[in-house]
Amino acid sequence: MITITNLELRFGGQLLFQDVNLKFVPGNCYGIIGANGAGKSTFLKIISGEIDSYKGNVEIDEKCRMSVLQQDHFKYDDFTVLDTVIMGNKKLYDIMKEKDALYAKPDFSEADGMRAADLEAEFAEMNGWDAETEVAQLLNGLSLNDSILYTEMKNLKESEKVKILLAQALFGSPDILLLDEPTNGLDIKSVEWLEDFLINFAGTVIVVSHDRHFLNTVCTHTVDIDYGRIIIYAGNYDFWYQSSQLNQQLMKNQNKKKEEKIAELKAFIQRFSANKSKSRQATSRKKILEKIQIEEMPASNRKYPYVNFKAEKPLSKEVLQANNLTVYNDEGKAVINNADFRINKEDKIAVIGDDISVTAFFKALAGESKYDGSISVGANTKISYLPNDKNSYFDCDLNIVNWLSQFTKETDETFIRGFLGRMLFTGEDGLKKVKVLSGGEKVRCMLSKMMLEAGNFLMLDQPTNHLDLESITALNNALIDFDGVVIFASHDHEFLSSIANRLFIIKDGKLIDRMETYEEYISKN
Ligand SMILES: Nc1ncnc2c1ncn2[C@@H]1O[C@H](COP(=O)(O)OP(=O)(O)OP(=O)(O)O)[C@@H](O)[C@H]1O
Ligand SMILES: [Mg+2]
Repeated sequence: MITITNLELRFGGQLLFQDVNLKFVPGNCYGIIGANGAGKSTFLKIISGEIDSYKGNVEIDEKCRMSVLQQDHFKYDDFTVLDTVIMGNKKLYDIMKEKDALYAKPDFSEADGMRAADLEAEFAEMNGWDAETEVAQLLNGLSLNDSILYTEMKNLKESEKVKILLAQALFGSPDILLLDEPTNGLDIKSVEWLEDFLINFAGTVIVVSHDRHFLNTVCTHTVDIDYGRIIIYAGNYDFWYQSSQLNQQLMKNQNKKKEEKIAELKAFIQRFSANKSKSRQATSRKKILEKIQIEEMPASNRKYPYVNFKAEKPLSKEVLQANNLTVYNDEGKAVINNADFRINKEDKIAVIGDDISVTAFFKALAGESKYDGSISVGANTKISYLPNDKNSYFDCDLNIVNWLSQFTKETDETFIRGFLGRMLFTGEDGLKKVKVLSGGEKVRCMLSKMMLEAGNFLMLDQPTNHLDLESITALNNALIDFDGVVIFASHDHEFLSSIANRLFIIKDGKLIDRMETYEEYISKN
């Protein structure tokens, strides 16, 4: 069990939450929800012990083993897949390694023998002999071949690393499982497998996600971070949504009734306070009036950013053309062979396929990866690109204002702040270092950059990853309204079906070009 009492956390002047009192118990799956920057990742880090500069108490049963989905994709680069997954249970891993070291000693003493016997007993107690089988099972569930067990992490593809880190968190039945956006970067089949895994999991799961479908499938409880508080609701996301809407409506109705009452009382008092025969009544009504309190409607941090892309110049007839294009992924394997296509001024193209091939395609168009054949970009075409992996942009010591200034010749800070304001970074936020930003805040920075660049050819590789629902909606509308070319990839169904009028489907090494909407395409497939 996890018991949290009077928790409060601030970063500088920014209050994330206060007066937090919660209990998390085994058998339940808690979905943490809230706007980008609300403090979801921070809250998980408080529970895992990574952050300890807070007020209040966090108590976790000593016997409980806690497992956390690691976010650093390079941390285990020099370890094999098998070791990385087993490290999910640190104690077991340490015993294994100590045992191996003892047996490898050339001068194995009697004391070593005794130590080895103790370790063997502990190892057996922890089901150590089944570890490798369990690892193989986890890999199978995540559609990975167990032939990679002895491959070093650094030799894996990004999408495989994501799965290995997930397997590490799930390994060895922990008592508490902390997962921050585990479905990002996972294919649909693996997401379904994870859903089943979590539904059957006996311990406590605390999971952050922006994916409503996933939350509805796995969560028994919903934990909302908003209004500077953290509140647990029994039930899944849809249930939370309905009850929170209902609550707000109730509060609004009550306030409205109170306001009407106040107006009525005030009118009476004004009319009769000078009237001797009614002055007593007027005084008693004044007292009633004093007692009525309008509940303050707290300000939610769920807000819609203002996304609006305006091209600096119109496209000409020649937008972009590819001939005999062969695209390679990071491993040098061709994922698209000999494709020919021409992009037109009115095109809004959704690129569909496995994430790696899609990213390789975008990188080729952006001139960031190797390709054969030709890509000719029209003289008036100005490409603005949101890559899938944005980390390299934020690996610096700049604050938000200075970060965004890098992408324009404009030196006027008010001008820069204008773009940031639209993306909900106001006042002091501008001075925040970009490296501490949350996942969704980083995407919002990238969108500010794109708006500032004013390109007429927008290329977005998974822009909806990390974004909260309000931001996804705002971005969705902006891309529908944009007067220029959009080429994008997303796992968000609504996004695909409402924006695209053309599809590029990457399949079996080919690029299939369809002049149709996503709805038309899925109705046939
Ligand atoms: N070390 C830090 N110093 C100052 N501010 C910080 C620090 N770490 C995080 N923040 C800020 O605290 C807020 C909460 O960040 P957090 O990463 O917890 O958000 P989140 O709810 O996980 O958002 P997202 O949905 O985008 O992942 C953000 O506004 C972030 O910029
Ligand atoms: Mg986060």
